[in-house]
Amino acid sequence: MVGYENGSILLGEKSRVSEARTETQIMQPTATHIPFHKPYCAPAAEGYLRTTLQSGRWAGNGPFGQKCRQRLSQLFHGAAVFLTPSCTAALEMAAVILGIGPGDEVIVPAFTFVSSASAFALLGATPIFVDVEPSTLNLNPKLLESAISPRTKAIVPVHYAGVACDMEKIMKIAARHNLEVVEDNAHGLFGSLNGRSLGTFGSLSTLSFHETKNVSCGEGGALVVNRADWIERAEIAQEKGTNRSRFLMGLIDKYTWVSPGSSYLLSDLNSALLWANLEQMEHVQRHRTDLWNRYQTGLADWCSRLGIGQPFVPAGCQHPAHLYYLMLPDLEKRQQLMLYLREYNVQAAYHYQPLHSSPMGLRYGGQQSVCPVAEAAAARMLRLPLYAGLTHEDQARVVEVLLAWSGA
Ligand SMILES: Cc1ncc(COP(=O)(O)O)c(C=O)c1O
Repeated sequence: MVGYENGSILLGEKSRVSEARTETQIMQPTATHIPFHKPYCAPAAEGYLRTTLQSGRWAGNGPFGQKCRQRLSQLFHGAAVFLTPSCTAALEMAAVILGIGPGDEVIVPAFTFVSSASAFALLGATPIFVDVEPSTLNLNPKLLESAISPRTKAIVPVHYAGVACDMEKIMKIAARHNLEVVEDNAHGLFGSLNGRSLGTFGSLSTLSFHETKNVSCGEGGALVVNRADWIERAEIAQEKGTNRSRFLMGLIDKYTWVSPGSSYLLSDLNSALLWANLEQMEHVQRHRTDLWNRYQTGLADWCSRLGIGQPFVPAGCQHPAHLYYLMLPDLEKRQQLMLYLREYNVQAAYHYQPLHSSPMGLRYGGQQSVCPVAEAAAARMLRLPLYAGLTHEDQARVVEVLLAWSGA
């Protein structure tokens, strides 16, 4: 059986690795199951949820929503922040704000979650898939210019694992061709490049608060609007295409349908949970970063001995320890290691399947084998457990189990 979790394919099928265990027979499978992920819930969440339930103020942009928006705005150098039901919804809002329509092209990395492309395709655009850099798995700027055509409207870089794309090059190319940049920053909250927060480079950027993210409210997201002159467009797009926000601010005496839009507000019940978790973000980030660093140093020698790749963080990039992955030499070894970990009650997960060769990607003109780095990442990557509730003891157990694997 194979299970899917937000684009990740989790460990499935019964183990076939008993023969790979000879050198590790002395080890006992862990008594406790170490999951790939567990969502964090701050202690204050229950109280905030009760407050919201009792207040009867459940709709979007309520008291907790406003607190979250203000806090997030501080993290994005004062940009306007709109809470949405998901990062996917925030990307759709971005597409509405840009006026995306049939005939437009939008450039996306081949190695990303489907929403980076589907949000624009929903309005009729054709996604153009560009391969990623082998070192960071981010959109490769060297391949960007040749993907631009007279129909290109926007570029959607994804800061994979919260490690910054080469924004200097991407922004230069975008400016040269008069293109908009929408940063899909689903992984990159708290990440920065040379001191500048990820999500503040493009005109628009998006966040995810899905339960797998560093800060979560179950399902949720945000659109960050870095252009003051687009704030009203965003308000309208979020309020079903109406000028209801201006009405609520007392600027007009009734509201009506004025442009394209949909229902893109996050309920205050979700915002209450989001606020409780945002309040704890320093503590959570400290622990996640510590766990990430322990994987990186604790596995370094073993990785180099077995030819396993570790994440690379370029100079100037501050990343938020969103995920930790290994790059196995090939698909077979990746499957072998995943099943071996399962034998020891450790759940690991691979990640995106390339978009260009997906059934929808092929319909948009994608072709097999044209983005070899994305294809290799899809086949070779294995992500390890990393979450706020992962104890040092459990992580040490994961490392111990890994170090006992000879790769034979
Ligand atoms: C890069 C990227 N963009 C967008 C999304 C979609 O996020 P959401 O589930 O909040 O819609 C994800 C989901 O994990 C993602 O990884």
